[in-house]
Amino acid sequence: MRMGRGARVAGWVSLAVLAVVGSFVGRVRSHGDQPLARIAVHETVFALDGRASIKASPSVLGVTGQNTEWVSLEFSSPNPSNDDWIGVFSPANFSASTCSPENPKVFPPLLCSAPIKYQYANYSSPAYISTGNGSLKLQLINQRSDFSFALFSGGILNPKLVAVSNTVAFANPKAPVYPRLAQGKEWNEMTVTWTSGYGIAEAQPFVEWGPQGGGKMRSPAGTLTFDRSSMCGAPARTVGWRDPGFIHTSFLKELWPNTVYYYQLGHKLLNGSHIWSQKYQFKASPYPGQNSLQRVVIFGDMGKGEVDGSSEYNNFQPGSLNTTYQLSKDLKNIDIVLHIGDICYANGYISQWDQFTAQVEPIASSVPYMIASGNHERDWPGTGSFYGNTDSGGECGVLAETMFYVPAENRAKFWYSTDYGMFRFCIADTEHDWREGTEQYKFIENCLASVDRQKQPWLIFLAHRVLGYSSADFYAVEGSFEEPMGRESLQKLWQKYKVDIAMYGHVHNYERTCPIYQNICTNQEKNYYKGTLNGTIHVVAGGGGAGLAEFTALQTKWSLFKDYDYGFVKLTAFDHSNLLFEYKKSSDGKVYDSFRISRDYRDILACTVDSCPSTTLAS
Ligand SMILES: [Fe+2]
Repeated sequence: MRMGRGARVAGWVSLAVLAVVGSFVGRVRSHGDQPLARIAVHETVFALDGRASIKASPSVLGVTGQNTEWVSLEFSSPNPSNDDWIGVFSPANFSASTCSPENPKVFPPLLCSAPIKYQYANYSSPAYISTGNGSLKLQLINQRSDFSFALFSGGILNPKLVAVSNTVAFANPKAPVYPRLAQGKEWNEMTVTWTSGYGIAEAQPFVEWGPQGGGKMRSPAGTLTFDRSSMCGAPARTVGWRDPGFIHTSFLKELWPNTVYYYQLGHKLLNGSHIWSQKYQFKASPYPGQNSLQRVVIFGDMGKGEVDGSSEYNNFQPGSLNTTYQLSKDLKNIDIVLHIGDICYANGYISQWDQFTAQVEPIASSVPYMIASGNHERDWPGTGSFYGNTDSGGECGVLAETMFYVPAENRAKFWYSTDYGMFRFCIADTEHDWREGTEQYKFIENCLASVDRQKQPWLIFLAHRVLGYSSADFYAVEGSFEEPMGRESLQKLWQKYKVDIAMYGHVHNYERTCPIYQNICTNQEKNYYKGTLNGTIHVVAGGGGAGLAEFTALQTKWSLFKDYDYGFVKLTAFDHSNLLFEYKKSSDGKVYDSFRISRDYRDILACTVDSCPSTTLAS
């Protein structure tokens, strides 16, 4: 039923969206629209009806310290219709006396903000249309403010506000929540980033931490925030804006490799009392080159989902919850996660970042969760993004660069390297120019060139858009099978520095190539590579959760495995000579494609086409 409704209104919704947010045009195909963008917030009219009602319970959430809770709604309307819907608003008082000057004119009740999620009134009450009575259960997360629920008639395109509920709130809306671990700039440093409602004038943020059975210490945290003026356009500056609270990062240093540490987020208030988060734990990263079992999960384009079924029309990100679930379930077999761009597709609806960090909390609070920047984080016209489209919904990178830490020199230029034991990862930023002669190209070459392959044999290149090879329909139509200028600029670097695997997102499916250089397979083996690869294996792992992308019908020699489904990649380094690559589906967590690499150091040193300088005749 939900899907039918989505399909029915899809055509004319896009017109309404244009009217609402003006410049919000030019979406990338196959990525879908942010569901909240489908609501014509500015068309809302005031139609409060004393005979209609909506009531929410309980009114206090999180009384035992939890940051997620279900709320029950009971509602009734004298004129029920199948397109009546319920919006969740936070802050609860959503009827503003003034709107941001950039919002178009609005009529009372001066609704200047989109809801944080919404659901149709008949979703779990099929009899609503005949009785006018319904009920609904929605899950709320603690995101620094109170909530109210509003019943609308007129569908999402001509919303008429019929009834508003009582207010509900978490016991401590400012609580420190949703820690995200990330590798620091040093091998023995872990960073912890979290969100709270406590600014620096009100409390001192810190992490209390220590090894199992050892003494505890406290490390201070830095605090960042931003306001509407940091957003580059609509909807992030207008209906999608929501106060992001405070984002804190603490640097836990001089960790012992592979040691388990416990930690807790804290805020020391001016009166000397403390506010504490739940307790968490992580395992410190191995020393670069260390010989131990190391397991890495990589995917792109996951997005978010709502377990209560809200906001999920148009099949926006159907695989996201499955991917999160499979990874959460298998955490004891995962050491680090790399989410290579298109993180939550908030697309300018800021509330969605809180909801995403809540969704991935089980993962990101216990293993480093390293992100790359994608078009949905960064792109905005006239702001220096390499692509001048509007995919970030006006965020222009600010949310990704603030909500998550990465060990970049400058987070506004989202390229960085990170080592995990026998792995070296070079993470590019496809939303900034990477071509020869650019600052980023120099970084990529330096990252690839500066690794000692005897110590760290597994050299992995990561980027959001496909800079190598993909059979995505939209690349094949252009005849490029890649992002134009990607391979042309970088393949000599991959070859010269003997990159093992280059992996991408952006295309929402899975594909693996042969080891390849200049469009030619350099190795005929398919599943067990022994000795030198002679080229780089390219992988698309963009099936993290957002709506799938079609493959072209054209068959190429280099494409060894394609899967039109949701999934993720796992790399397991057993030692310096043995690597296992697995592709798992998000639906069942099982392996559907795999290969092995077995080789010695001399195989990496071996000279292949364009990989070594010419030798001298002298002896
Ligand atoms: Fe993308």
